[in-house]
Amino acid sequence: SGSLAEHAAAHGKYFGDAVDNNEITDTAYRPHIAAEFSQLTPGNAMKWDSTEPNPGQFTYSRGDEIVALAQQNGQTVRGHTLVWHNQTPGWVQNLDATALRAALQNHIQNVVTHYRGDLYAWDVVNEPLNEDGTFRNSFWYQKLGPSYIADAFRAARAADPDVKLYINDYNTDGLGAKSDGMYRLVQDLLTQGVPIDGVGFQAHLAIQYGFPNQMRQNLQRFAALGLDVAVTELDVRMQLPADSTKLATQATYYRNVTNACLAVARCVGITTWGYTDKYSWVPSTFPGEGAALLVDENFQRKPAYTAVHDAL
Ligand code: XIL
Repeated sequence: SGSLAEHAAAHGKYFGDAVDNNEITDTAYRPHIAAEFSQLTPGNAMKWDSTEPNPGQFTYSRGDEIVALAQQNGQTVRGHTLVWHNQTPGWVQNLDATALRAALQNHIQNVVTHYRGDLYAWDVVNEPLNEDGTFRNSFWYQKLGPSYIADAFRAARAADPDVKLYINDYNTDGLGAKSDGMYRLVQDLLTQGVPIDGVGFQAHLAIQYGFPNQMRQNLQRFAALGLDVAVTELDVRMQLPADSTKLATQATYYRNVTNACLAVARCVGITTWGYTDKYSWVPSTFPGEGAALLVDENFQRKPAYTAVHDAL
């Protein structure tokens, strides 16, 4: 008995869920969101294409709805995300370097100011790295070079002195070339005096690719830099159809991630990228894959739910 959030809280950590606006009106889902979680992340509502679809035209209604639900439930909110290469309008991508630098400043100043006081953390820069640990050749990097990262953190800190500022990426969960790149980047930002508080590990896992290499040790080396770490977008997909063997493997992955966070004092919490297989980004993004979350389409608990609950 006891919710995921209650058990995580006994360890001084949160347990969170990513939600979209269409999901929080689902009366079958809402009670689970309120009961199981102590933190919410908007899956899409705070991305650039939602908050500034046209130059200087800021729209906060969708993000505000999720903040309001979290406040009603007594949950914290992780803002996601300020600077990314995806879900950023064409008008941004088409700017020249000078105008792009100004747009980044203006966007961050407006969005962070709007949510000042409402959020626990911001994913300031999302997915800046390639698999080999070098900088992703996004339109940000092509036009501005690596300085866009430090600039984004400084702009966010200028707009809100209190919110925790994170860098966030995937396939950085275990020790390896990409997480080595993240480690070098974060060390470099700290050396430059850039205001960064935490590193987010998305943990979009798949049972057919194996469990990340030494996740606890990896989280620990970032924590040793004096930063918070968080598991920000956990899910564990599989090739469909699911069967009891795959679901058991999935459960061990969820348990291992939970134990990795619990073993690291500076790991502040775990957010799953959804709760029910009824709403998951996996089937539409990875054709033939799915069943990635803790409960099925009918909110029936899977072995993964029990594994996380028992580990906490
Ligand atoms: C996903 C959303 O869940 C989908 O609804 C959307 O269509 C695409 O983006 N890494 C991230 C998240 O940082 O923002 C992504 O969210 C999943 C991968």
